Amino acid sequence: MAAKPVAKAADKAATKAEARHTPPNFAARLIAWHKRHGRHDLPWQCRDPYAVWLSEIMLQQTQVGTVIPYYRRFLERFPTVQKLAAAPLDDVLTLWSGLGYYSRARNLHKAAQQLVANHGGGMPADPDVVQTLPGIGRSTAAAICVFAHGGRHAILDGNVKRVLARYCGVHGYPGETRVHERLWMLAEALLPPSDKNVRKTTAAATMIAYTQGLMDLGASLCSRSKPQCERCPLNTDCVAHQRGLTHLLPGKKPRAALPQRETVMLVMRNAGEILLERRPASGIWGGLWSLPEVAHERDAASTAKRHGVSVVVSKALPLIAHGFTHYKLNITPLLLEVKKSRSHAPGVPGTVWLSAEDAARAAIPTPVRIIIVSI
Ligand code: ADE
Repeated sequence: MAAKPVAKAADKAATKAEARHTPPNFAARLIAWHKRHGRHDLPWQCRDPYAVWLSEIMLQQTQVGTVIPYYRRFLERFPTVQKLAAAPLDDVLTLWSGLGYYSRARNLHKAAQQLVANHGGGMPADPDVVQTLPGIGRSTAAAICVFAHGGRHAILDGNVKRVLARYCGVHGYPGETRVHERLWMLAEALLPPSDKNVRKTTAAATMIAYTQGLMDLGASLCSRSKPQCERCPLNTDCVAHQRGLTHLLPGKKPRAALPQRETVMLVMRNAGEILLERRPASGIWGGLWSLPEVAHERDAASTAKRHGVSVVVSKALPLIAHGFTHYKLNITPLLLEVKKSRSHAPGVPGTVWLSAEDAARAAIPTPVRIIIVSI
């Protein structure tokens, strides 16, 4: 518990350092790039709050190209928030059919009724208020308030997280609260500066171009797997690009720890030969030759007896951790010297005594080979 405030302070300091890295012309370069290379012909690039809201909801989990025909049909059938609010939910769902994530349609319908009932059918300009509507999170609320009202608000959708994590060199998985909060602070810090002397319409146009530019850069040049850094307007001071970290940022979701299993592998040595047994045809290492296994070291002697030999423990060999896709296997190899063997008795079926050299050349799993060559 005591480490928490320290970690928080360290996070804050790191965020400040990252924000200090951000030069004042970040927004200006992005806007200039957007002017030349950004998207300007999207059907929802208007100032109608209802249309903007509809597009942002549709674009939450769906690509632009897929959204466009749905967006057009929806607006044709429900041209106003009042018409949407008054429609039966089934009609809304029918129009949404094929777009997926149907809770979006249900929330849209419910939010339309709330807007009509509580806001006179208008869209509030305050993202904190917009965020109280069903289906609208912080970033979507901000995007709606920027595009519909020209407000100065930071967005942070998936593409923007990638741009900022790379540009500012933020390590870690954005799904983690600490990383997420840091990215939000940076998104705020990088907004175009607010200037009281600038006309409201100019400030609004700046915010719209900046926000669309950020979205467009994330959807085009700053792609996840094939970023085109050489064409990026931010490459001169993008931390990821400058340090060759682009493919590592943003960080991937950490894998859940694999379950662990334990086994003891018996290396029974009889005059230079060791005993291998064939594994069952199905299951891990199916059909391969391997060392006899026991759950506990105390079972070693009785297992040796089943193989017709009496053994003494010679030494424990170094532990081996072997990773499978679904679990980790911790192997304790145990070297056993045979005291007395039933040299003339037939071996147990499915087993063979081999020299260490021959055993290492047999069809055996890698960790078994590591053990055999180590003795
Ligand atoms: N994704 C989310 N909002 C978007 C917008 N306004 N334009 C393009 N893609 C988007």
